[in-house]
Amino acid sequence: RIVYVNGEYVQESDAKISVFDRGFLFADGVYEVTSVLEGKLIDFDGHLRRLRRSLVELAMTIPCPDEELLSIHRELVARNAVVEGLVYLQVTRGAADRDFAFPKNVPQTLVLFTQAKSIVDSPLAKRGARVVSVDDLRWGRRDIKTVQLLYPSMAKMIAQEKGADDAWLVQDGLVTEGTSNNAYIVTQDGTIVTRDLSSDILAGITRAAVLKCARELQMKVEERPFSIAEALTAREAFTTSATGFVCPVVEIDGTALSDGNPGAVAVRLRQAYIEESL
Ligand code: PDD
Repeated sequence: RIVYVNGEYVQESDAKISVFDRGFLFADGVYEVTSVLEGKLIDFDGHLRRLRRSLVELAMTIPCPDEELLSIHRELVARNAVVEGLVYLQVTRGAADRDFAFPKNVPQTLVLFTQAKSIVDSPLAKRGARVVSVDDLRWGRRDIKTVQLLYPSMAKMIAQEKGADDAWLVQDGLVTEGTSNNAYIVTQDGTIVTRDLSSDILAGITRAAVLKCARELQMKVEERPFSIAEALTAREAFTTSATGFVCPVVEIDGTALSDGNPGAVAVRLRQAYIEESL
């Protein structure tokens, strides 16, 4: 695989990052994941906008102009012949002697790589995901897309140990989001419910696109928190993310929703979003 590191395209085995990089020592960095369908970047502008916001919130600088970031994305997709998959971008505060205080005048580290992945024909989306609820023990600024992903990884492992596919994180009795996706239920009267935006969750780029699709399809949307107890009474549930698109959820904490199959709203929104993206 060809990867991008600080201005250069190199074989992954030749890529070099300092052991003093603050991304490595402090998880001091931010990232974005943009999906690729038929060789095309999906919702790239949204990811770029959120990247800029994450950087500003952490007093970091924009690594290079938007057009250059776009051309790096395109170049990597082309060089690695990615038809379906993702582009991962990470910016860290760079390498400096280990000190909790931010270093001054240190160049940031910019890394991008691609990963091939089947998105449209995802077996998980066909079957529907099983989720379990896990306490949300992440820090308080989940609106910033930082590379601090240890707790979401642990939550995913807890879910897998329980035979589920993913975890829904719960804070003060209410679902925040999935480990790496936004969470939704569809009530018995057909209303789509998803948590409102705040520092408690990441403002998903797919979330924005899918809610727009839902409104265009005249579906009723409510942005408010919901509990696991309410989710268990729902007709269906689903998640959204760049790499999962819309993924039906068919079971929560061992209880099947409706007949245990992917719900009609999730399937319809998944189709609508794929069609709109292509
Ligand atoms: N995760 N919430 C969290 C905590 C996430 O990590 C993600 C994305 C989302 C969905 O955001 P978007 O629709 O912009 O992808 C919500 C990416 C895909 C990841 O970490 O791989």
